[in-house]
Amino acid sequence: MVELANPKPNEKVADLGSGDGRISIEFGKKKCIVRGFELDLNLKKNCEEKIKQLNLENFVTISQEDFWTVDFCDFDIIAIYPMPDIIDALEKKLHKECKSGTRILLNYYSFTNWKETKQKDHVFLYTI
Ligand SMILES: C[S@@+](CC[C@H](N)C(=O)[O-])C[C@H]1O[C@@H](n2cnc3c(N)ncnc32)[C@H](O)[C@@H]1O
Repeated sequence: MVELANPKPNEKVADLGSGDGRISIEFGKKKCIVRGFELDLNLKKNCEEKIKQLNLENFVTISQEDFWTVDFCDFDIIAIYPMPDIIDALEKKLHKECKSGTRILLNYYSFTNWKETKQKDHVFLYTI
């Protein structure tokens, strides 16, 4: 995901359903300003421990927040490993909210109606 996104330092990254934080952390290592959204409090806490151990607190923050309630207009990069049943709703939401130039990365699943800009292995990159 990081390779396809080619992130620059200080770019704003949203990780939708950040889980154990593996995606957020990799973008944080590139000095991006990352916000992970995760409903599960235990996953959030475990992830925050890792962030602390890696001294990435200035780069990565995890919010216990439902990403469907967040407006993604202000992010440069959006990353998600989605469940297949949300793909179409997610496609509509991101098309509506994201600014021009935003890169969207999907792990494993692809959007139904949107042609990817690039694909490598199981990762799809879309550009608004
Ligand atoms: C398939 S896992 C992916 C985890 C991680 N991104 C990865 O690649 O390993 C999906 C995660 O999204 C979280 N999640 C599902 N729906 C969510 C929502 N509406 N808002 C925030 N987190 C959500 C789940 O708790 C779970 O940790």
